[in-house]
Amino acid sequence: MASAQPLVLPLPTRRATLRFAKSLASVLEVGDVVFLEGPLGAGKTFFVRGVCRALGVPSKLPIQSPTFALVHEHEGRVPIVHADLYRLAEASEVSELGLSEALVGAVGLIEWGARFGDVLGRDGVLVTLEMRAGQRQARLTARGSRGREILSALTLR
Ligand SMILES: Nc1ncnc2c1ncn2[C@@H]1O[C@H](COP(=O)(O)OP(=O)(O)O)[C@@H](O)[C@H]1O
Ligand SMILES: [Mg+2]
Repeated sequence: MASAQPLVLPLPTRRATLRFAKSLASVLEVGDVVFLEGPLGAGKTFFVRGVCRALGVPSKLPIQSPTFALVHEHEGRVPIVHADLYRLAEASEVSELGLSEALVGAVGLIEWGARFGDVLGRDGVLVTLEMRAGQRQARLTARGSRGREILSALTLR
C-alpha cells in the first residue's frame, strides 16, 4: 500500500467518509499532519470533524471550518490543531501563525495547506477529496517516510 501510486478510495456516502476518518484517526500520532485538499464543499471539514470525533473530541463541541480564525485547537486523546490556510498566500504568513510549533505536539488537520508543506516541515498524508464521474472519492498520497507508514497501517475497505 506504500507504493508511489496514490491510493483511491470511493466515498459514495457520508457514512463511508466517516468510516475512512475513523480508520485514519486510529493510526494518527502526535506530530502527524493530514493535509486536506479539494474544492469548496468537497467535504474537508466534514472529514476533519469525523477524525476529531474518532480522536475523542466530545460531540457537544462544534468542529467548524477555521476560515476566519485560521487555527482551532481541540483536545481529544491527543491535542489536535485544525487549520484552514485558504486565505494565506505567502510562506511568511504561515511562519507568523506559529503553526509549525503547534504541530510538534499535536495531530494536525490542515485544509488548503499542502502548498505550505515545506514551511510546516511535517510528514503525513495528503487527502485530496474530489468528484470523479459524479462520485466522491479520496486520493491518498504519502508525504515522507511517516506518511508511507501511515498509509501502510491503514485498513480500508
Ligand atoms: N460522502 C460525503 N463525504 C463528505 N461530505 C459529504 C458527503 N456527502 C455529502 N456531503 C456533504 O458535503 C458537505 C461538505 O462540506 P464541507 O465539509 O464544509 O466542505 P469543505 O470543507 O471541503 O469546503 C457537507 O455538508 C456534507 O454533509
Ligand atoms: Mg472547510
